[in-house]
Amino acid sequence: MTAKIIDGKRISAEVKARAAEEVKKLNEMGISVGLAVVIVGNNPASRIYVNNKKKACETCGIISEEYALPEETTEDELLELVHSLNNKKEINGILVQLPLPKQIDEKKIIAAISPKKDVDAFHAINVGNIMIGDFDFLPCTPSGCMELIQSTGVSIEGKRCVVVGRSNIVGKPMAMLLLHKNGTVTICHSKTKELGEICRTADILVAAVGRPKMITGDMIKPGAVVIDVGMNRLPNGKLCGDVDFDSASQVAGYITPVPGGVGPMTIATLMQNTVTAAKIQNM
Ligand code: GUN
Repeated sequence: MTAKIIDGKRISAEVKARAAEEVKKLNEMGISVGLAVVIVGNNPASRIYVNNKKKACETCGIISEEYALPEETTEDELLELVHSLNNKKEINGILVQLPLPKQIDEKKIIAAISPKKDVDAFHAINVGNIMIGDFDFLPCTPSGCMELIQSTGVSIEGKRCVVVGRSNIVGKPMAMLLLHKNGTVTICHSKTKELGEICRTADILVAAVGRPKMITGDMIKPGAVVIDVGMNRLPNGKLCGDVDFDSASQVAGYITPVPGGVGPMTIATLMQNTVTAAKIQNM
């Protein structure tokens, strides 16, 4: 193996420690920091994510309130909860864990969250603010990826950056953050022709497609920074990324592991955003 491992666990602990310090300062000023975590139904992956988010809140001194609703919850019921959380003073951030059951329109729910409490940065107002580079909240996973890239010391400016995946949650905002740092950015997706060829041009490669081990070593430029956002469950129960770690780590300069790479960073950014929300609402 030639690649250096980017340690998301260690870096996320640093980010959370900084958030905890800020929470402490706010508490000393008489301001508490609260996050509402909403989960609907019984998706096992969502349950793990939500538990990890609540644990991180505890680490940072953020008060978390869990709202666990049954699978058959209606859209109106969930909208009503969101409205009540929008108006609840002790709640600074609202996180509705996705995906939602099929009877609920995710877009409607996201649109109902107050943009000032939208710690995921999913609301169109916050997405627009990210687009124009003037934002309060950074989108959690892309922001975590940026921290990981920056931890390598490799500068983004002028570099070829390739993002594989165009989701609203990761791919699109990721491309935008790389662009803000003056990267030359290409977005690839399921219809892209010559994916391997394009990936091989990348000094910085971000994989966020949700397909296990899709990015193999032969698609990577020697020495590249490889960020693997994938979190796929294999038939044997093991977690694996979108990057084939064994072959990719022979070629890349830096690589994130799965688990222990991007995942913990997403949660650390959520903590940062919740602190930001408390500041916006109180200062
Ligand atoms: N589901 C998968 N990733 C996320 C995320 O970052 N936020 C929320 N709310 N749901 C998700």
